[in-house]
Order: sequence, then structure tokens, then C-alpha cells
Amino acid sequence: MAFEQPGGLPVGDLVSLDEPDLLRVVKARRVPGHVAIIMDGNGRWAVQQGLPRVAGHREGVKTASAIVRAAHAVGIRFLTLYAFSSENWSRPSSEVSMLMSLLERSIDHEFPELMANNVRFRVIGRPNGVPPSVRKRIDRVVAATAANTGLTLLMAFNYGGRDELVDACRALASQVQAGTIRPEEIDEALVARALYTHGVPDPDLLIRTSGEMRVSNFLLWQIAYAELVVTPTLWPDFRPRDLYLAVAEYQRRDRRFGGV
Ligand code: IPE
Ligand code: IPE
Ligand code: MG
Repeated sequence: MAFEQPGGLPVGDLVSLDEPDLLRVVKARRVPGHVAIIMDGNGRWAVQQGLPRVAGHREGVKTASAIVRAAHAVGIRFLTLYAFSSENWSRPSSEVSMLMSLLERSIDHEFPELMANNVRFRVIGRPNGVPPSVRKRIDRVVAATAANTGLTLLMAFNYGGRDELVDACRALASQVQAGTIRPEEIDEALVARALYTHGVPDPDLLIRTSGEMRVSNFLLWQIAYAELVVTPTLWPDFRPRDLYLAVAEYQRRDRRFGGV
């Protein structure tokens, strides 16, 4: 099979398939259990359309909603979406407050659909610093969907991979101090259990839109052996078929985990 670019999305037979056929082909193969997505490019999309950046974020929410449905359709069990990083607070305060209120409204708006699709909603990130009204809404939806058994949707919000590791170190240090564990008992499993993602398998596939070749402080521990797919498509233009093509790209990778 030929490729558009190294690590890019596959071209050829699959690209020419219509969406239902593509979905059928992808579903019949090895589906990644956990897909994590760095949803990037909202601002550039808006600028290209001659619109303010906020218009890109609004469009990005619509994409996220469609991609949750598509992930469910393909049989993905865990989907993690990077919505707001610990570094995104450094943006102009008007953009930050707009993102907060957009998120607040979107959670309310998406709630019935999440319930209808049996989606379990979780948030990873530091609760501190998040406006109380946003936290209240998040907590309500997390509680209401806790018993759902379909796709688990993790929203990385006020999330930083380094923050997460710092918090895990603190939790483990407290346990050592309290005498519940000894330092030499700390192993990979204990560290993993101290992360925000406890109980969630590591991502098999990490997708980044908008062409940037970096991980931007996302899931630093968990992506140790994730397959990476970077697409030049800007997030508001990312469609279910792009997700299926990224999964198809994953399916042709040879995962070795350091072996042969
Ligand atoms: C991603 O789009 C959304 C967030 C980080 C909240 P950006 O806002 O980063 O868009 P670009 O990268 O400036 O195009
Ligand atoms: C990563 O995108 C964070 C999210 C998608 C929420 P950024 O746009 O913040 O990342 P950089 O600044 O390009 O690394
Ligand atoms: Mg960006």
C-alpha cells in the first residue's frame, strides 16, 4: 500500500471507499481499544475562514461530538480527547473564558446523547483552577453516566502530563509516609494506579490533527508504546472517515514493544 507521507494516512483502496464500506473494513480488523486524540487546529481553521478563533472552537465541539459517535460505531472502548491543557491558561483571557463557557454549554448539550449511547464520561486533569460552575456540570455528568457500560469517554481538561506525574509522586510519597507502602514496592503498576487514568488501558493509538509533530504534554506516561498518527487536517475538518482511516493506518502497523 502506498502512503501520502511517512506516518500519514493511507491512500489507495481504502481512501476511495465510501464511509459505510470503510467502517465495515476497519471493524473487521484489529480495533484499538483506546484511542487518544490531540484535537488541534481550531484557531487556524477559523483564521482560514476569516473568522475569529472562537468560531473554530465552536466548530471543534461539533467535530468532537461526531467523533464520539464514530468511535462508538467502530467499537473503540476508550476515547480520550484533549480539550484544554495546563498550558492553555496562557492564552488571552478572552479566549480562555470563551473556552470555559463553551465547554460548560457543550457538556449540558451533549449529556442526553451520551446517556442515549450508554457512554461513560470521565474527566482527567486537575480540578483546581477550573471555574466552579464548569466543575459542577462536569461532576453531574460524570455521576449520571458512571454506571453506563458502553464507550468510556475521557476528557482531558486542565490536563498536563507533568502535572499528572507530579500528583502521582505526591500520592505515592504520602502512602510511603503513612507507612502503607515501602519505597521498593513502587513499580509500574503502582505508578499507573496513581495516575488520573487509573483503570484505563494505555492508548493504542494517538492521533494529532493539524500536522504538529509533538505531544504537547499529553499522557506522557501512558503513550510509551502508542502508535502515532499525525494528520494535516485541522480539527474542525476532521470527519468520521478520517478517524476510520487513522484506525486503518494503525491496523497496518507492526507493534513490537521492544521485541522482534
Ligand atoms: C485546539 O485548537 C483547541 C485547544 C487547544 C483548546 P487550537 O486553539 O490550538 O488551534 P490552533 O493550533 O491555534 O490552530
Ligand atoms: C494541545 O494543543 C492541547 C489541546 C489540544 C487541548 P496546543 O495548541 O495547546 O499545543 P501547542 O501549543 O501547539 O503545543
Ligand atoms: Mg493548537
